[in-house]
Amino acid sequence: MNVLGIETSCDECSVAVVADGKTILSNIVATQVERHAPWNGVVPEIASRLHVEWIEEVTQQALDTAGVSLEEGVDAIAVTCRPGLIGSLLVGLSYGKGLAWSAGKPWVGVDHMMAHLHAPRLEYDIAYPYLGLIVSGGHTILCRVDSLHEVTVMGTTIDDACGEAFDKVAKFYDMGYPGGVALDKLAEQGDDSAFRFPQPRLHKGNHIYDVSYSGLKTAAVNQLEQFRQEGKEASLENIAASFRKAAIDMLVKKVKKAAADTGIHTVVAGGGVSANRYLRKVISEDPDLESYFPSMALCTDNGAMIAALGYHQIMAGERSEWNLNARARVSGFRRAYP
Ligand code: KG4
Ligand code: ZN
Repeated sequence: MNVLGIETSCDECSVAVVADGKTILSNIVATQVERHAPWNGVVPEIASRLHVEWIEEVTQQALDTAGVSLEEGVDAIAVTCRPGLIGSLLVGLSYGKGLAWSAGKPWVGVDHMMAHLHAPRLEYDIAYPYLGLIVSGGHTILCRVDSLHEVTVMGTTIDDACGEAFDKVAKFYDMGYPGGVALDKLAEQGDDSAFRFPQPRLHKGNHIYDVSYSGLKTAAVNQLEQFRQEGKEASLENIAASFRKAAIDMLVKKVKKAAADTGIHTVVAGGGVSANRYLRKVISEDPDLESYFPSMALCTDNGAMIAALGYHQIMAGERSEWNLNARARVSGFRRAYP
């Protein structure tokens, strides 16, 4: 069964064709990065307008590359419906509905975060249960995954998302855009013991698996003057390396605690931050953990992961209603303090 997957939740306009939820026949990702770079961040209005301009061409390319036509070679359509930028989501969702209606195909709305979590399953056969670590620009989720449809959120961020903190620190120091990628690259040349940033204390009650990035971000921005006065060399590389270590160590600590508490030692990562070199290194080298990371192309936003998860939803008999709406947020994926 061939599923056409449409992803427009943020700044990547992506359409893919995936066979049987596993074989990627095409995965076209048209990135808007250059169009948002002058603002050092994603401008929602620009993002949704570009999706409107690009979606048809990207879809045609996905069909052509896969060597199929919508009428003959596509059996179902899957489209991201939540969470994300509302205007961007609405473009893909409306377009997907239009395609499904005009071609008379079954279709389903897909949750973007669950699709990130599912992405490594395109490349690996992974036995349940496992711990899921979904780290992106808008979310930081540690969960227990018992089956495709049984995902229990154990911890989230109580303020900024991990990728958001990378982006904000990179923006403050003018490290480049997109921030997370630029900071990660600079960090490779830096000394990660140059600065010691504070770690949050979230050890109690509902928060034992939660993380917090707002204090670390503020420290990385504000403590620098103090460090300079102490005579420390505040090179961009050293700031990047020290920040990256603090941000990722915080996550890894929670993953290890979850592994110890649940007895589940398999970790499956997804989302843009799962491309981070230090995160990949620390988790994959940990003798206590067996880990699966998506290849780089499947870490960040892409239509293939939407098509793959959509396939399983369709196979389970799920069909979405025409009045399905886009949702910017999903309760439970982010937590407010306390
Ligand atoms: O999953 P994604 O493409 O979009 C969202 O769903 O948000 O993730 C984008 C986020 C951005 O915050 C970006 O800075 C971050 O992932 N990111 C990274 C790296 N590559 C992307 N953060 C740290 N290190 C990286 N190598
Ligand atoms: Zn994403």
